Amino acid sequence: MRAHMITYGCQMNEYDSHLVQSQLVSLGADMVDSVDEADFVLVNTCAVRGKPVDKVRSLLGELRRQKALRPLVVGMMGCLAQLEEGQQIARKFEVDVLLGPGSLLDIGQALESHERFWGLQFKEELHDHIPPPPVGKLQAHLTIMRGCDHHCTYCIVPTTRGPQVSRHPDQILRELDSLLEAGVKEVTLLGQNVNAYGFDAGAKLAGYPSFADLLRMVGRSGVQRVKFTTSHPMNFTEDVAAAMAETPAVCQFVHLPVQSGSDRVLRRMAREYSREKYLSHIAEIKKHMPDAVLATDIIVGFPGETEEDFQDTLSLYDEVGYDSAYMFIYSPRPGTPSYKHFQDLPRDVKTERLQRLIVKQKEWSARRNARFQGTVQEVLLRGDAYSEGSLEGHTRGNHPIVVPKALGALSAGLYHARVTATTPHMLYGELVDASGEPLPLLPHLGPEAAALVTPLPMM
Ligand code: SAH
Ligand code: SF4
Ligand code: F3S
Repeated sequence: MRAHMITYGCQMNEYDSHLVQSQLVSLGADMVDSVDEADFVLVNTCAVRGKPVDKVRSLLGELRRQKALRPLVVGMMGCLAQLEEGQQIARKFEVDVLLGPGSLLDIGQALESHERFWGLQFKEELHDHIPPPPVGKLQAHLTIMRGCDHHCTYCIVPTTRGPQVSRHPDQILRELDSLLEAGVKEVTLLGQNVNAYGFDAGAKLAGYPSFADLLRMVGRSGVQRVKFTTSHPMNFTEDVAAAMAETPAVCQFVHLPVQSGSDRVLRRMAREYSREKYLSHIAEIKKHMPDAVLATDIIVGFPGETEEDFQDTLSLYDEVGYDSAYMFIYSPRPGTPSYKHFQDLPRDVKTERLQRLIVKQKEWSARRNARFQGTVQEVLLRGDAYSEGSLEGHTRGNHPIVVPKALGALSAGLYHARVTATTPHMLYGELVDASGEPLPLLPHLGPEAAALVTPLPMM
């Protein structure tokens, strides 16, 4: 079997795609790079907003056309596969195999019988399963929990992924060891709400550590960089900020979604915190890590949001001074309380507010990024950048950065770079050695000559 996977959605879906891919390979499949080469195409779907659902619809439409021309099996997994909406789409586009987020290990059976395998309850074996590390990559994701116990009124995730189940710390550390052995330098711990790690009933009974203690444990493993996503403010404790500050491997980057700066809107979203409480967490983070990089998620145009409510979001943005933000227009999702009970705002009101928020975000990101001008940053370079002769990667603070290749730094690795220019979205720099001296550039070397230059050992 030649299989090809297409992934939409968040990092949790990327992790799941990797896991299913490793299952497929262990069943004897060859993974191929394009739909045209494949006889099985598996689409990992997202249902969080209308747009990703539309994308899945048009992709499945295209795959149905191809099925009419040649033998092709089409599968659908992920969040949309779990919903009635998704099953209707699957029927319409003649999807052969359906796999729910809780039954990823059943892909073999599902393929054999061309059936649907799904389940909201994550099977124990899924938590115990350690997928093989990604090949030749310096970055990896590591799922520490599945599902979500919150009930934000706009959000479909608790319906698609079910209640929260934390993974056993021993499994997490074992998976981490296998990543480190494979040469991974940066690990991102994943969960819908990592601050609530260990809070679910099973985890409490079994005496799992708190998220702060898990960070400390992971930090002792020898990994060079630890990041995590996402944090829910309701479960944030000052101990998490303290653990981050005292654990050198943990990057001082916090993604703490606020969604709105208005208490009235936060109540209607059922976010379980107030503006004041949120700001007190930001103060704790800044107290322990004065230089922390702060990111957030914001929804504009939630039903009933007035101009005054929106002004509260803008003023909160100024009060925190975020480095970056993911900004979304409210998208009514069938099956959520806000879809059922609230009236959607007119499209032009929502887009006009988004435009104003983007202006604010750009101003702050420009100002925040400018503070790095001239500083030396540790950079994890992934590989070739779009511009020829350059490498791209990111800093500990998660800023994307581009640097020209230099002697001893021709390919992916962990290096140091001095920042020479900044924009609201990017940093640009030059590679430097341990004493801060720029590494010599390679102006006239072709690819073959460049390959002869021995890279410096990775840090
Ligand atoms: N568990 C994470 C977020 C998961 S969804 C958390 O609570 O932080 C990622 C982001 O999508 C959310 O933070 C929210 O900003 C956005 N989002 C979720 N549902 C949405 C909807 N119906 N319309 C618009 N944005 C939405
Ligand atoms: Fe959705 Fe809220 Fe859970 Fe995040 S915490 S996944 S926004 S219900
Ligand atoms: Fe989308 Fe599911 Fe992630 S709805 S954002 S893929 S948890």
